[in-house]
Amino acid sequence: MITKPKGTYDLLDIEGRIYKFIEQTATNFAENYNYEFIRTPIFESSELFHRGVGETTDIITKETYNFKDRGDREMTLRPEGTAGVVRSVIENKLYGNRHDVLKYYYLGTMYRYERPQKGRYRELTQFGVEAFNSDDPLTDAEVISLGYYFIKSLGIEKFSVHINTLGDAESRDNYRDALLEYLKPHINDLCEDCQKRYKTNPLRILDCKADKDNPILKNTPKISGYLTPDSKKRFQKLQSYLNYLDVDYEINENIVRGLDYYDHNVWEYVTEDEAVALGGGGRYNHLVETLGGPALPAVGFGLGVDRLILEIKKITPEQPLEKCIDAYIMCINEEEKIHAITLAQDLRLNGIIAEVNSNNLSLKAQFKLADTLNSSFLIILNSEDLQKGIITIKDNQTKEEFKMDEDEVVDWLIGNI
Ligand code: HAM
Repeated sequence: MITKPKGTYDLLDIEGRIYKFIEQTATNFAENYNYEFIRTPIFESSELFHRGVGETTDIITKETYNFKDRGDREMTLRPEGTAGVVRSVIENKLYGNRHDVLKYYYLGTMYRYERPQKGRYRELTQFGVEAFNSDDPLTDAEVISLGYYFIKSLGIEKFSVHINTLGDAESRDNYRDALLEYLKPHINDLCEDCQKRYKTNPLRILDCKADKDNPILKNTPKISGYLTPDSKKRFQKLQSYLNYLDVDYEINENIVRGLDYYDHNVWEYVTEDEAVALGGGGRYNHLVETLGGPALPAVGFGLGVDRLILEIKKITPEQPLEKCIDAYIMCINEEEKIHAITLAQDLRLNGIIAEVNSNNLSLKAQFKLADTLNSSFLIILNSEDLQKGIITIKDNQTKEEFKMDEDEVVDWLIGNI
């Protein structure tokens, strides 16, 4: 038997239905906030991610799927969505001379060669939004609140938003020096990865998952002591706007994010037991320039759809997401079958979910199947009635049964489902 690749899964049944629910809700939310849909390629030239996400990040050093295409070009399956959207904004010159905020959302698969475990896959789906051309913390707050109310609208309550600021380059340089100074006598007490991070990317040590109870990491200097007045003000403004927007947040100075492009405000949506990040985002005012475009401020987030599915499965009884249909059409002989398929088509073209007996089942088996399919109504056809243009409808909940003209069924069902 050929099996699925390690770290992937088939999305079907209840999980498939939850996915479609998330997809619809995400689309509605993003469009209400005036975001437009964008789809960028699943593979891009490797250089995009090396320059965009950062050479020393875990994603680039350990997790990318790389290949050479037949033209000998170095390609990478996208590990995240932001770099591709930025490339597209630059390549399509979307930045122009404009005063509006350029807003895009996407839903798509990303690929990271991680150690698979529950909620951590090698093929993952993200719902992301990216807003360009506003440097105002108001936009940061709007983006955070979009994600916050989106998660809530899925029925997930036990999470909060952890916010932090990484400041500007000056704040980060000062902070990096202080952190290196503090950690210097303790280098040998750090995990192997963090010993490397000390040299390459010391801020990421704060985010170490392997060694998070190490007291040395609990007592590190905090970035808040090293912020420039501008960075401090942006962070305060963000908090004030989030208060107005009624977003439940807490400040967590250990949020440093795993990608290099961030500056100023960053955040993660974290489950209550803090075991899982449902998503994360932040401001990235220099990425467009880093990738060859003009100076264009930006902010966005990516939410892990696979993790949202797991959360929804934990809290939602199966009932509301159980599959159901509106009408099951029962038929036995050839004449009834013809009526059944044409009626089913009429119903379907009018937005009613209809199914017919396509397996030559007995009447008894059809009644049983209609129950299994959770059909709200049964439409029972018999040749004698059909000749008079009449059919029988049965309400599958109340078990009430009555006859009506075949021509009236579509309108009647539209009014009664
Ligand atoms: P990220 O924090 O790397 O950010 O990923 C965002 C979310 O994707 C994570 O919080 C998590 O829910 C989900 N995720 C990441 N890796 C996996 C995995 N292996 N399996 C399942 N879910 C996973 C970004 O990707 C940024 N591009 C977000 C962003 C957009 N920042 C600004 N704009």
